[in-house]
Amino acid sequence: MLSLGIETSCDETALALVDEGQVLGEVLFSQVNKHSIFGGVVPEMASREHLNKLAPLWEKLLRQTGRRPEEIQVVAVARGPGLLGCLLVGLGFAKGLSLGLGSLLVGVNHLHAHLLAPGLEQKLEFPALGLLVSGGHTNIYRIDSSVDFKLLGRTLDDAAGEAFDKTARALNLPYPGGVYIDRFSSYASPDPDMFPRPYLDNKNLDFSFSGLKTAMVNHIRAHPELVLENPLEITADYRPDAQLARVCSSFSLAVADTLVIKLRRAVRQLGIQNIILAGGVAANSMLRDRISCLARDMNLRLIMPGMSLCTDNASMIAYSGEILAGQGLHHSLELEAVPRGQKIPWDYLSN
Ligand code: KG4
Ligand code: ZN
Repeated sequence: MLSLGIETSCDETALALVDEGQVLGEVLFSQVNKHSIFGGVVPEMASREHLNKLAPLWEKLLRQTGRRPEEIQVVAVARGPGLLGCLLVGLGFAKGLSLGLGSLLVGVNHLHAHLLAPGLEQKLEFPALGLLVSGGHTNIYRIDSSVDFKLLGRTLDDAAGEAFDKTARALNLPYPGGVYIDRFSSYASPDPDMFPRPYLDNKNLDFSFSGLKTAMVNHIRAHPELVLENPLEITADYRPDAQLARVCSSFSLAVADTLVIKLRRAVRQLGIQNIILAGGVAANSMLRDRISCLARDMNLRLIMPGMSLCTDNASMIAYSGEILAGQGLHHSLELEAVPRGQKIPWDYLSN
């Protein structure tokens, strides 16, 4: 089923065509440079950029794939969670196309799409435990099929990616800073005692990263020499000094350890051997390494997406839309956007 994916939930404008689980093409405009000087995403600006970029990206996608609009059977769109104005731009575009083309409209849960994304590269097996770590969410799910997700645990405050980004900001690194902390970490081995592993003394599968973030920010305040004078000095061959690298590496390890400890607990509680790691923070090398060790130790089948499928993209939206439509699920033109913090309803119509 030829499925068009539309992703505009935050600061990436992306469109992709997927057919039978194969990506035919993806076009993406990242607004990251526009927002980085503000130290975070400016919602109004992001919505305006989506509006400006969607039409040229659509034409580029058609040129690149050689497919005609009339061939598109499914128009899949990220309907939340995300920034409301940004989602509305994507939804408006999706509704117009589905109406004009007579194709099925399918609203996709952006978080579920992240977890299904590795299915574009390898076969997913269920039941699975899904660990979704992104800029806005840190969730553990039980996934019984590609359309059956049960939330088992979530962050009570900051998401893992948010903790990386806020820490990076305290170091005067560009936004989003997770990737820089990861890069700097590779230049030093971590000190396992430098930072705490937060919120483990309980039996649940929830997370709390704000204490860890504060510990790191306090450490930076106590060592102001860690703060970069000029973020522009970070070129491709930039090498951080040893002290900065060690702090970044120790912080990354504290985040990775915390995630892995709760994941191990989930495996023990549920007895599920398939693990799916997803979301922007799934690109983190320390986390990938620690989760791979856990999988080896516990004999788990671990699925990790390739780098381009970790961060926001439209292939995962197109793929999820194709799966949902394949199960006879779709939406009417009344489909609503759901902003961050609100529960996404299961409001599909079925044929
Ligand atoms: O999934 P995503 O692209 O967007 C959201 O839906 O939030 O995730 C973005 C998050 C940001 O917080 C970013 O700093 C983080 O993923 N991130 C990383 C790495 N690459 C991206 N965090 C740590 N290490 C990385 N290599
Ligand atoms: Zn995302």
